[in-house]
Amino acid sequence: MQEKKITLNFISSHLSELDIKDQELIANAKEAFVTAYAPYSGFLVGASILLENGEIINGSNQENVAYPSGLCAERVAMFYVGSKFPDIKIETIAVSVLSKSFGVTDVISPCGACRQVMAEYEDKQGQSIKVILHSPNDHVLIANQVQDLLPFMFKSPHLKKH
Ligand code: THU
Repeated sequence: MQEKKITLNFISSHLSELDIKDQELIANAKEAFVTAYAPYSGFLVGASILLENGEIINGSNQENVAYPSGLCAERVAMFYVGSKFPDIKIETIAVSVLSKSFGVTDVISPCGACRQVMAEYEDKQGQSIKVILHSPNDHVLIANQVQDLLPFMFKSPHLKKH
């Protein structure tokens, strides 16, 4: 028996310390959360994706009265990119949040399903996707690749190809 450890690499920073490109992407994510449809949680999430061709795609969480039918902001944006720009690489995703019902002070971390989706697109494109998590008080956490947020991810070699 052997005990093993996994190291998680991330950067903790303040909005003002980021380069202008990352600050702009966060500004986009903040614009995106305004479009959230979140009447049940009052929790507004915006995700903004920067593609290698410079295009920026925004998404926000979309809820439904049949709760599991809704979708997180990250996957709304990721699936849009996957369907509209299948061959263009994703450089960065920024996620920002605002709660109408209580004071969220720190960054929120993408749920497991969103991490799995982001991690597979990262694998598919063979290039890291930077993840920027932004809080209402401008605290920022950065992971340089999705893989760092999802050790032991489920990968396609685990499935038999047809
Ligand atoms: N949500 C996101 O959009 N992204 C996350 O990373 C976490 C949660 C949404 C889903 C739901 O609409 C609301 O936030 C509360 O869970």
